[in-house]
Amino acid sequence: MEYLKIALPKGRLAVQTVELFKKAGIPCTDIDDDSRKLIHTDQSNKIKIFLVKAADVPVYVEYGAADMGVAGKDTLMEESKNVYDVLNLGFGACRMCVAGEGKYLNRTDKIMNKRVATKYPKIASEYYRNVKNENVEIIKLNGSVELAPLCNLSELIVDIVESGKTLQANGLVVLEKICDISAHLIVNKVSMNMKTDKISYIISALKKELSNDSDI
Ligand code: PRP
Repeated sequence: MEYLKIALPKGRLAVQTVELFKKAGIPCTDIDDDSRKLIHTDQSNKIKIFLVKAADVPVYVEYGAADMGVAGKDTLMEESKNVYDVLNLGFGACRMCVAGEGKYLNRTDKIMNKRVATKYPKIASEYYRNVKNENVEIIKLNGSVELAPLCNLSELIVDIVESGKTLQANGLVVLEKICDISAHLIVNKVSMNMKTDKISYIISALKKELSNDSDI
């Protein structure tokens, strides 16, 4: 029998993903985020779990290297991959926001020639084009985005805010909320037809576990 291949994210979504899968009875034995081992094989249940960078999960799933995976809505919006987004898993909840110095609260329209630093250039440019109807300069960064307004690289940032501690520690505030974000289960389009039974079983097991959780 063929293996079902699942791409799970390393990093901020890792612990809750593995916990949910285990509770739902999907074998994730011996996985921990600190491990350097990238493939975990359960021979008896014919499941292989790949641990990949969160932003790469949709790539593995789109190309069919993984049949299914767990990815943040932020990554799915930014990458817009050709995959089925089948289930909002609810955890990893945070907000995609515009942030900057408090002096811009309710006054972002006063900023001339706005520069917006972000790890999410697609989300940021669509927001400014489609929602705000504004022309802004988008500056792509790879991390520590909160630094940009502090050293005059940009006036604003577009980034995810979870606890708000990073903004607070750097003297920045949320100026506008773009959307809510959480972890989603995604499925490769061909696998959905070829491995329907196994995939449906996993979706049902996760749905059941999520509804048990919300009953508590
Ligand atoms: C994310 C995000 C913010 C921070 C928000 O960065 O880009 O910087 O977390 O979380 P908080 O609201 O709980 O403080 P991440 O930790 O992934 O690191 P990075 O900036 O290097 O990408």
